[in-house]
Amino acid sequence: MTSRRSFLAWTGAAAAEAALLAYGMRSRPGAAAADVGTTTAGVGRYDSRSPQVLAASARTKLAPFTVAMPIPQVLRPTRTSHHTDHYDIDIREADVELVPGLTTSAYTYNGQFPGPTIRARTGRPVSVRYHNKLQTDANVHLHGGHTPADSDGHPMALIAPGAYRDYTYPNKQQGTALWYHDHSHGNEAEHVYRGLHGFYLIEDDHERRLGLPSGKYDVPIMLRNIALDDTGAMVLGDPNDRPIVLANGKQQPHFSVAARKYRFRLLNASNLAVFTLTLPGGQLIQVGSDGGLLPAPVRRSQLTISSGERVDLVIDFSRFPVGTQLFLTEATAGAILRFDVGRATHDNSRLPARLRALPPLATATVHRDVTLSFDLVSEVPAALVNGKSYDPDRVDFTVKRGATEIWQVTNGDGQYGIHHNFHMHLVQFRVLDRNGQPPTADDRGLKDTVPIAPGESVRLQAHFTEYLGEYVYHCHVLEHSSFGMMATMNIVK
Ligand code: C2O
Ligand code: CU
Repeated sequence: MTSRRSFLAWTGAAAAEAALLAYGMRSRPGAAAADVGTTTAGVGRYDSRSPQVLAASARTKLAPFTVAMPIPQVLRPTRTSHHTDHYDIDIREADVELVPGLTTSAYTYNGQFPGPTIRARTGRPVSVRYHNKLQTDANVHLHGGHTPADSDGHPMALIAPGAYRDYTYPNKQQGTALWYHDHSHGNEAEHVYRGLHGFYLIEDDHERRLGLPSGKYDVPIMLRNIALDDTGAMVLGDPNDRPIVLANGKQQPHFSVAARKYRFRLLNASNLAVFTLTLPGGQLIQVGSDGGLLPAPVRRSQLTISSGERVDLVIDFSRFPVGTQLFLTEATAGAILRFDVGRATHDNSRLPARLRALPPLATATVHRDVTLSFDLVSEVPAALVNGKSYDPDRVDFTVKRGATEIWQVTNGDGQYGIHHNFHMHLVQFRVLDRNGQPPTADDRGLKDTVPIAPGESVRLQAHFTEYLGEYVYHCHVLEHSSFGMMATMNIVK
């Protein structure tokens, strides 16, 4: 049985630990009292770091911006039939270089960190055969995908070591940036942390006709944090103590750009950290969110992205002289990626004033309440949705196919200062309001994941179409979902 202390450390509940201390419920010699108000950032703010992690953060100062940011390789289909593209991906261990000069043993897709990118088109099915070459069970979820239940990567539908499984994605959804990652019951936090994550980009005809930057000017960037010791080995430890932020698997890389428009698909693939991003001196123009394009481009001075969320951006480098350096900057971690502006090149891409209207909001007929919380009072701590820990044999909500529903999702851990976020499988939803106030700029568009700060409450509207069966919804702080902050909805006729 997990001890309370390791549970709290692993779930990132350092603030809760402090709260328990404050309530006199337990004592932990040597523990730093965490600042309850800062837990949302979760990027190495606590003083309770292990010496190894401190060493790793010292190392981050050595040689910033010495390596180029790679672009994850686009995977070629193994074969193409008249209506489906078939891919093969190995899930296996590999040595990777995340920090210059250090070798890190990782779990990977095809030996790559991030995994290879799959590029799909709306309406054209993709089938991926994942071969599990790890010593442990694995599976794969396409995050944000509108996917039949048997290909959704249900936590209990595992691929045994040595076995393979085919996942079929009909791609009946708008163009957008999705990602695939491990979702094996109880182990998704560790598996994703070790490197089981990759991009899956869908493009549609409408989007293509808009003429946004494409080809090599359309660049996915996976941001995630990690802790490494002096030998380069990953430190699992406290998810709040992951001081290195990687951009496409490299610490503080640079990326050479031509003086023209680019499109960037940002993903926060961290287990826990919420990133607050700025581009001092430059301009971030958001064109899409989790589920596809926004109605119109939106200038953003700052973006907040929690675990699992994506932001689709255009940056126009044409107004900068050759040699300009721009730093993508995270509020806690500092500069995480440097753009080096080179010469102008021909740019026939466009940034249209109108992108795509959002689907109209139908009238909702069902209202539900969901509360995410920890039980830190009982002897055995637990991670809960509506007071219950995940049980794959229990259906929590029965949803009628075709229904439009409003879910009010509440972070029940306000008193502990614990950050949660919320992800639903199968659907893209809309944020109606946040604490009774209009949605924030980060809540715009079609969403599948939203941050929910301590004590916050968010109302979401979803329309359940097409597929039947059991899907999960959960906190996307993966240490929380791995410990049971997950529940099941069954979509029925
Ligand atoms: Cu990104 Cu259920 O997960
Ligand atoms: Cu959570």
